[in-house]
Amino acid sequence: MENVRTENRDGVLIITIDRPKVLNALNAQTVGEIWSAFKAAHDDDSVKAVIVTGGGEKAFVAGADIAELALMTPISGKETASRGQEVFLFIERFPKPVIAAINGFALGGGCELALACHIRIASEKAQIGLPEVTLGIIPGYGGTQRLARLVGKGKALEIICTADRVTAADAEKIGLVNKVVPADQLMSVAEEMARKIASRGTVAVRYAIEAVMNGSDMPFEEGQFLEATLFGLLCATDDMKEGMSAFLEKRAAQFKGR
Ligand code: COA
Repeated sequence: MENVRTENRDGVLIITIDRPKVLNALNAQTVGEIWSAFKAAHDDDSVKAVIVTGGGEKAFVAGADIAELALMTPISGKETASRGQEVFLFIERFPKPVIAAINGFALGGGCELALACHIRIASEKAQIGLPEVTLGIIPGYGGTQRLARLVGKGKALEIICTADRVTAADAEKIGLVNKVVPADQLMSVAEEMARKIASRGTVAVRYAIEAVMNGSDMPFEEGQFLEATLFGLLCATDDMKEGMSAFLEKRAAQFKGR
């Protein structure tokens, strides 16, 4: 891969979007490489959690590649948006925890990539926004849908329609990011959280993601039905027996992921 680096740090896979000359902008090739990295992580049992970040000091991802966008026809525009949506949906529904470590500008497609991750941790330097309307377009990688679900329609419309960038501190206030940390601690905090989640019941974490992510798109009662079904399935796992036994025997659980 040319624009995406991966490093498996003892079970935590770091996926770095790395096109520093254009602030890690997402061209079609990079979106394809993100897909390949996640597909490989999906199939690799040694990967317990994923962190997505941007290469260099300045940007997480500064958006879709505007040089490429400028050439779009109605057909290629629709295909590009659909492809990005498909890749980001794969990330949102990923069965292992995915944390965005937002190290700088997360604009347009970069904001949408972070929104597709399960948890967002931002450096104090991060600036987040959806500036598409300044280019005469709207977010096309799920941003209008995910931002409104995360921060509410009013805030989402303010962010999308003004195109203003939100500081890390304000992003935390409105629930757009989970927490803000000093820049030099970003990766260690993200890694610590990834390892904590990876130490929990593996199948339970997978089903928790499924219940929250799939369930929030369903009517409440269907979401509850999904929750009860996944709860019941977990009662058949070795992890459930181990978790309960470990509590009763006052020892740390050793989950096997089955
Ligand atoms: N697509 C393509 N190239 C991009 C890009 C993008 N989304 N974002 C930045 N770049 C390029 C710039 O064109 C510039 O290239 P150059 O050195 O050949 O001129 C390089 O990255 C550095 O960016 P620059 O604008 O000089 O940095 P800056 O610090 O002055 O500003 C930003 C940083 C992020 C505020 C500014 O680059 C920007 O607004 N980018 C576009 C954001 C956007 O609209 N994203 C949504 C796209 S749908």
